[in-house]
Amino acid sequence: MTRLFFDCDTGIDDSLALLYLLARPDVDVIGIASTAGNVPVDTVTANNLAWLELCGRTDIPVHTGSPVPLVAELMTTEDTHGPAGVGYAELPPATTSESQVDAADAWIDASLAHPGELIGLVTGPLTSLATAIRRDSALPGRLARLVIMGGAFHVHGNTTPVAEWNVAVDPEAAAEVFAAFGAEDATPPIVCPLDLTESVALTPDHLVRLAAAAGSSPVECPDPGDEPGLRSVAANPLIRHVVDAVRFYLEFHHAHDEGYIAHLHDPFAAMVALSPGIVTTIAARVDVEVTGRLTRGMTVADERSMTGAPNARITTSTDVDAVFDELLDRIATLARTLASSDNSDSGLLASGDRVGETVRRSPAAQARRA
Ligand code: BDR
Ligand code: CA
Repeated sequence: MTRLFFDCDTGIDDSLALLYLLARPDVDVIGIASTAGNVPVDTVTANNLAWLELCGRTDIPVHTGSPVPLVAELMTTEDTHGPAGVGYAELPPATTSESQVDAADAWIDASLAHPGELIGLVTGPLTSLATAIRRDSALPGRLARLVIMGGAFHVHGNTTPVAEWNVAVDPEAAAEVFAAFGAEDATPPIVCPLDLTESVALTPDHLVRLAAAAGSSPVECPDPGDEPGLRSVAANPLIRHVVDAVRFYLEFHHAHDEGYIAHLHDPFAAMVALSPGIVTTIAARVDVEVTGRLTRGMTVADERSMTGAPNARITTSTDVDAVFDELLDRIATLARTLASSDNSDSGLLASGDRVGETVRRSPAAQARRA
């Protein structure tokens, strides 16, 4: 069993990262830290609890972090992730509660419980982890591996011209974490920046493959011609919520001239956390600009050791098709398993039932298909 602690700001792509982790039978998610970012921290916790309950994993504790970054005012991005952070999905509210242990203490407890063994994964701002390191500076030395989704090194930022969202929300936290992992006994974190994560671009066909592999019907194919916010009618609840969540993300990217696609930054980072062999990396000393008038939140990579020894490994390439094969296969299996173990009268397909034709519902899409 691989023991992993997940810190996120759920978030549409954080949601898919969580589902991927839950879909891996070889992974023990020992706790989840909710960090303020895409949406306020209480909404992050509500989303984490809701996904866990939907997946029958209420055994995993959810720890709420600070409502604000270390220094900055909190900014959130409901226009990217929807009013509740999960796009158009309407998750049944969880009946469970968050842990009384806060996110930073949960990081420390997890590292003490599994010293030298624990994998840490952060797909949100670094507020909770930086707070944990302020409380216990030996924490970095106890992690077997840390994977961070964040930064933009040789590409434009997605929040300012030079800053990526997770770092832009809390630049001081990111700077403190990178500095702390410069310590001799710490293993440099693996960083998944926009440079690479923006190549992990989901298209509607991936959702078709997912629904078909899950045995969910109808198999829906979101289309840019659809009326915005069209809701899924997929019989499999997990697939229905995923399609509703991702449709919002597709519309967001489309509205920003990136195509009818969705960048799956966080599921990719989750996969790297479990299988670092799927990426190539370059060693670098990473620091974060915290004072620049135009460049606050910029991540700077010294790839030539001009300013000191490397404190990070930056991912540079991967096999994107293989990433999608793995992601879709795992989440489809999870959806299928949940459906077959659901005793309620949910109208789910039994295995062996015929999976319907792919549905393209907008007139524009139908015309294109004809
Ligand atoms: C990151 O920002 C968030 O909006 C996403 O969830 C991802 O973690 C990408 O810049
Ligand atoms: Ca995120």
